Amino acid sequence: MVCLEICLAILVLGLMIYKWSTATHRAFDDRGVYFEEPKPFFGNIGTSMLGLTSFHKVLSAFYNRTRGHKVVGFFNLRTPMIQLNDPEIIKKICIKDFDHFPNHQLFLESNERLLNDMLSVMRDQRWKHMRNTLTPVFTAAKMRSMFALMNDSFGECLEHLSRLSDGSKSGEGLEVDMKVLCNKLSNDLIATTAFGLKVNSFESPDNEFYQIGQSLTFSRGSQLFKFLLATLIPKVFLFFNMKIFNGQKVEYFVRLVVDAMKYREEHNINRPDMIQLLMESKTESEDNWTDDEIVAQCFIFFFAAFENNANLICTTSLELLENPDIQQRLYEEAKEVQESLKGSSLTYDAVQKMKYMDMVISESLRKWTLAPVTDRICSKDYTLTDDDGTKLFDFKVGDRVNIPIAGLHWDDKYFPEPQKFDPERFSDERKNEIVPYTYLPFGVGPRNCIGNRYALMQVKGMLYNLLIRYKIERSPKTVKDLWEEARGFNLAPKAGYWMRLMPRK
Ligand code: HEM
Ligand SMILES: *[C@@H]1O[C@H](CO)[C@@H](O)[C@H](O)[C@H]1NC(C)=O
Ligand SMILES: *[C@@H]1O[C@H](CO)[C@@H](O)[C@H](O)[C@H]1NC(C)=O
Ligand SMILES: *[C@@H]1O[C@H](CO)[C@@H](O)[C@H](O)[C@H]1NC(C)=O
Repeated sequence: MVCLEICLAILVLGLMIYKWSTATHRAFDDRGVYFEEPKPFFGNIGTSMLGLTSFHKVLSAFYNRTRGHKVVGFFNLRTPMIQLNDPEIIKKICIKDFDHFPNHQLFLESNERLLNDMLSVMRDQRWKHMRNTLTPVFTAAKMRSMFALMNDSFGECLEHLSRLSDGSKSGEGLEVDMKVLCNKLSNDLIATTAFGLKVNSFESPDNEFYQIGQSLTFSRGSQLFKFLLATLIPKVFLFFNMKIFNGQKVEYFVRLVVDAMKYREEHNINRPDMIQLLMESKTESEDNWTDDEIVAQCFIFFFAAFENNANLICTTSLELLENPDIQQRLYEEAKEVQESLKGSSLTYDAVQKMKYMDMVISESLRKWTLAPVTDRICSKDYTLTDDDGTKLFDFKVGDRVNIPIAGLHWDDKYFPEPQKFDPERFSDERKNEIVPYTYLPFGVGPRNCIGNRYALMQVKGMLYNLLIRYKIERSPKTVKDLWEEARGFNLAPKAGYWMRLMPRK
């Protein structure tokens, strides 16, 4: 008898979970839009959630199957979204009629400290004000002075490599996991440029800043678990009053920034980093931003810069070792710049002069786009029409919009031979051929990435320094086929980004 009851209970529970997992599946039934039958739990994104394949690949495959439709229903797990497969429509929604779609979707409705104060999460007027406050922080002029702060960290990274290479047998070069190396570099650069703190993660890998910063990013361990729980079943998360971030660790960063601001005010210290830029724009802004609201903007670097910048160096290095001609040409350009600098260290303006570097990085961001999608949410009803006036879709408040960046970047209609790494796509002669709004590595419109200049100067600066000293080569542990081997959300091989660095004479 007991057994029967247990069995029944399990059955009922199973049914309830199944019902829950498919509860949203009728979302597009009466809305006159094409969609693919979703699967329980996984919707249209299938096995990438289980880590069996990469998110990028699943999204590109979905785009490929549906690209004949300008708008298409898409189930991101259980969440129904309207995917825009057409560049002109992306332009309409993200630029022309931005007023109807001014926000990103919230990944969780909690009153978590700092999380809701980050620019990327803010909404409507509050977002607009903060974006206006931050825009002057990320201008080319500000980045130029901030770039000088990066020099020390580049130097420490190179010193670390040269110590390693002194220890290795000559002629063999260094085998390094580029991801580990770049994570440390990213960390030190965030510490110095965003938090006004000098750390050296190459000499002391267990420094407090690194440890605490790591425990806050979403991409690993219990943090990822909590994040997924909060995204997938927010009700449970909120019911138990769970928090994604540990309060003490958050406090560590708040103190770091607040104390630095106070100290600088009292001692009249100038240092061209985020803290100072935020202090300046805070006084210039009409808004009364709280300490938390200011600190949260430094906090963004952990989520936006940390993984992205490191991954971009990794994917680019991988392409360089697979395409020795491209690496050679880039090396020659770097060498030229080095000579023109006559012994002084790299500057922001010298970085901007490297045209080929820009082509290579642009192509790297095309082929290995770090954000495979971005999103918007509809805040005012909106009827989407085609150029000839035919109605395509009626958006209702709360509808979520999906912009298939990876799908577009891999579409042979826009980028012939999408698997080919070809920086010439971005040459002066050919870049005009790119169809507008098909190349979106940093998103599009007023809500695009605010940190793109920062990211580009860091990545270009590091690659310059690396290439003038080392030739990047394949090692036995180098990933064979990133497209096949990448798993989950991050474009990274499970075993790491191993490569060999051969010192140049
Ligand atoms: C290679 C590195 C990076 C890539 C590929 C990248 C990509 C993106 C993308 C695709 C978006 C969404 C844009 C949209 O929806 O239209 C975004 C937003 C954002 N990114 Fe980045 N990003 C990078 C680095 C950074 C860095 C270094 C920062 C530093 C502050 C940053 C800060 C932000 C912020 C604050 C937003 C939200 C903007 C808003 O909502 O107004 N990103 N990024
Ligand atoms: C940049 O770093 C290098 C190596 O660490 C150092 O020799 C150089 O003096 C630094 N340049 C500036 C402008 O600080
Ligand atoms: C800003 O805050 C100060 C002090 O907290 C207050 O006196 C002032 O009225 C506030 N200004 C606005 C525009 O809210
Ligand atoms: C999507 O199609 C492009 C060609 O347009 C192809 O290169 C790419 O591999 C396809 N994506 C997937 C996941 O099969």
